[in-house]
Amino acid sequence: MVRPKKVLVTGAQGLLGAEVTRLLSQDSSYIVKGTTHSELDLTSGKEVAMWIEKMHPDFVINCAALSNVDTCEEHPEETLKVNVEGVKNLCLPLEETGGKLIQISTDYVFDGKKTTPYIETDCVNPLNIYAESKIKSEECAKRFLPESLIVRVQWLYGEYGKNFASQMIYDITYKNISTQYRLIEDRVGTPNDVKNVAQGIKVLLEKDIKGIVHLSCEGECSWVEFGKTIFAMNHIENFSQYIRVLKEVEAQRVAKRPPYSKLSSVRLQSELDFKMPFWEESLQRTILNLKKNL
Ligand SMILES: NC(=O)c1ccc[n+]([C@@H]2O[C@H](COP(=O)([O-])OP(=O)(O)OC[C@H]3O[C@@H](n4cnc5c(N)ncnc54)[C@H](OP(=O)(O)O)[C@@H]3O)[C@@H](O)[C@H]2O)c1
Repeated sequence: MVRPKKVLVTGAQGLLGAEVTRLLSQDSSYIVKGTTHSELDLTSGKEVAMWIEKMHPDFVINCAALSNVDTCEEHPEETLKVNVEGVKNLCLPLEETGGKLIQISTDYVFDGKKTTPYIETDCVNPLNIYAESKIKSEECAKRFLPESLIVRVQWLYGEYGKNFASQMIYDITYKNISTQYRLIEDRVGTPNDVKNVAQGIKVLLEKDIKGIVHLSCEGECSWVEFGKTIFAMNHIENFSQYIRVLKEVEAQRVAKRPPYSKLSSVRLQSELDFKMPFWEESLQRTILNLKKNL
């Protein structure tokens, strides 16, 4: 009989970490422990080592991070401490126990100057502190654990999420719109339901590959197109009153963002025979699932 694999998921109360923990826990091939921030603080090397030495996980999926891009810009030291030192704290005991790290990264590692999808081998160039910290976290994983896997994801939302995209989908689907959505027209990428991303991470874990993989739905859109599609899928006409279309410069946000960051994977299809759905298909399913609870 094959021994179930032990998996430690950090940041298990976050948008992605919660879904990854939920998905893997449903499969008896895994013994899963998802840790919350209060159970396991990545900035404490001692705590991290204690967890890894006690559990001896075959895999650690690091979904913990400081992920609010503007907050990161205002708190660079804390950001580097969690997003980089935190990863080093995971790597050191994993080197000893032989466990593998799956480090979650981001499309923000790119500067957005390309006009065609970014692939795994494209050069990174950070525009903000968050991006810089995520590039350093990738380098840290590669340096200390060359067998580690780095999964770059983008524009996440989820049925239970609390970020802007998740809230917008939730409010519009439940016809509970109490705000005008400020949507940027000159930022293009791909929205992703965390359910698809978690399933993709599971496939990557099972294939046990290393290096960088881009994991994102097919297709691309601007934030304006994304917002309009959510209204259209909910059969709400005359939605222009609920949308304020902005250019990125008008939004006057603290941190710069890449104008174009669609992630494409040459590895998913060629090496792994795995395809993500189109973002519209995935969004439709999320909305239908939410409607089931109406
Ligand atoms: N959301 C996106 O659109 C997006 C896009 C690209 C990449 N990513 C990457 O995907 C990963 C997951 O992001 P997410 O959207 O799920 O983020 P999230 O919802 O903000 O979750 C991150 C989790 O990390 C925890 N955390 C923060 N500091 C910690 C620490 N020192 N020790 C342990 N846990 C800590 C947070 O706990 P508290 O809240 O209790 O502090 C939170 O539960 C991150 O690596 C992020 O960079 C996300």
